[in-house]
Amino acid sequence: MVMAKLQLISGSAHPVLSQKISKLLEIPLTPTKTETFADGEIYVRIKQKVRGDDVFVIHSLTRPVNEALMELLITIDALRRASAGRINVICPYLAYSRQDRKATSREPITAKLVASLIAGAGADRVMTVDLHADQIQGFYDIPFDHFVGYPQFVNYFKANNYKNVVIAAPDVGAFGRGRRMAKLMDVPMVVMDKRRPNHNEAEVVRVIGDVAGKVVVINDDIIDTGGTITEAARVLAEQGAKEIILCATHALLSGPAPERLRDCPASKVLLLDTVPIPEEKRIEKMEVLSLAPMLSRVIKRIHYGDSLGELFTWEREIASC
Ligand code: R5P
Repeated sequence: MVMAKLQLISGSAHPVLSQKISKLLEIPLTPTKTETFADGEIYVRIKQKVRGDDVFVIHSLTRPVNEALMELLITIDALRRASAGRINVICPYLAYSRQDRKATSREPITAKLVASLIAGAGADRVMTVDLHADQIQGFYDIPFDHFVGYPQFVNYFKANNYKNVVIAAPDVGAFGRGRRMAKLMDVPMVVMDKRRPNHNEAEVVRVIGDVAGKVVVINDDIIDTGGTITEAARVLAEQGAKEIILCATHALLSGPAPERLRDCPASKVLLLDTVPIPEEKRIEKMEVLSLAPMLSRVIKRIHYGDSLGELFTWEREIASC
């Protein structure tokens, strides 16, 4: 049997990440034509044959989020109508995941809506990194691979020989991820009790655990306006942390985030490249770690039908977590 050809398609959201993956895999990006009509409608055409092929679409749902989502759906539709053999969507940042349940009456569950749209358009598999809530995987009735970002940060701290570290979860939602990170580094953790008086406002009302004299690593999934993580940094500095390092998977950096990060007591901001970080939002203390090597290995394994679990060796170390 002839094996389906592997093709890589980059959406317009994060070309830099797509190019890195293409270079690592030594597979050129399949040419596409993406245009916006005068009225705002999006047009996508795949410029070469994909019939029967194993296609990986790399596209993050980054700003402008709604355009990015529509472009993804249109790309999947174009591939399906062109008879692609398998359509694998790599969406490192899956927007709308924060609305994963009804927190009050008459609210939508947009994480489920987006899942229905992506699967309905014709995707055969979806991959993402650090969903806001793990259970969102269940909104998809197609194979769904959920990767985690914290092992990248752990590798960084181990490689740079950090000592006397404590991991801080900036809210209860970040507790599980923080606990697994702490276990992998064999260090203690603290949890912060965050309240949201209004959308985009964060207030820490209490810290559970001791940070005095420690290097505190605050790990969150998203930095959006920067309110949550910089408020956490402020409170931990007040509680006597010796050094504060912020880590986050999705650097959305909306509105005041760059200034908040610059002015907060953290010495370093470690980010992953699930979304592009424009030059004007970069500040000196930021460092961006790339997911391209991990995603390239994942693509290869999926294409050849190999196990992904074998790749994620840390899973064995946190098995009891
Ligand atoms: C919320 O629960 C998330 O995990 C993040 O903490 C939140 O989205 C960050 O938003 P912001 O940076 O605007 O506080």
